[in-house]
Amino acid sequence: MAIDRESFKTGMRRLAAGVCVITSVAEGGRRCGLTATAVCAVSADPPTLLVCVNSATGSYAAMSAAKHFAVNLLSVEDKAVANRFASAIAPEERFSQGSWSTLVTGWPVLDSAVAVFDCVVCQVVEVGTHGVLFGGIEALRFRQPHVKPLLYAHGVYGRFVAVDGAQNGSRDHVPPWISPDSRFLEDGLRWGFMWM
Ligand SMILES: Cc1cc2nc3c(=O)[nH]c(=O)nc-3n(C[C@H](O)[C@H](O)[C@H](O)COP(=O)(O)O)c2cc1C
Repeated sequence: MAIDRESFKTGMRRLAAGVCVITSVAEGGRRCGLTATAVCAVSADPPTLLVCVNSATGSYAAMSAAKHFAVNLLSVEDKAVANRFASAIAPEERFSQGSWSTLVTGWPVLDSAVAVFDCVVCQVVEVGTHGVLFGGIEALRFRQPHVKPLLYAHGVYGRFVAVDGAQNGSRDHVPPWISPDSRFLEDGLRWGFMWM
């Protein structure tokens, strides 16, 4: 059965995803970047992630040529950054939203992001309109767990809430706002999604 483009997109909008901004530096030192939800962990050994970027974007050309990119996992406070990096604003001007610095590679990372990953491109696979870039993680930084990630589903931005309520966290990697109690966590934590 042939699946049409719109049905595919309607189905994929049901997939709630963390919102990221992928950045790179083009020839001549010009910064560029785009908002992306197609980001996925691949392997912890060696630490590797992947991003899917439309090969028609300026950022894709820069990432492929420079062989580096940075992934910024946005927080709920970064919605304006997400909008800006998904707009038609000129690449360098997008960086006037938010506070930007660098880690190891010198690629732009957002100070307010939940976590940032500095990556070297280790493989590229082209599929249809998109390039899948595998990034070996050279460096990473993350903020305190109380900072909430920005989500996207059904075409709108949102935030996590624990389906079974939120009490104080009891484990280092579980933020207080999502941890019911350690006994429940052994059974598996269920998640909710709330519109912003
Ligand atoms: C929530 C959201 C998620 C997106 N995810 C992706 C993605 O994973 N990959 C992609 O190539 N574009 C994605 N886009 C679209 C790009 O952000 C958008 O086309 C951007 O303007 C491209 O930058 P350009 O001006 O350099 O072409 C997404 C947009 C939004 C709003």
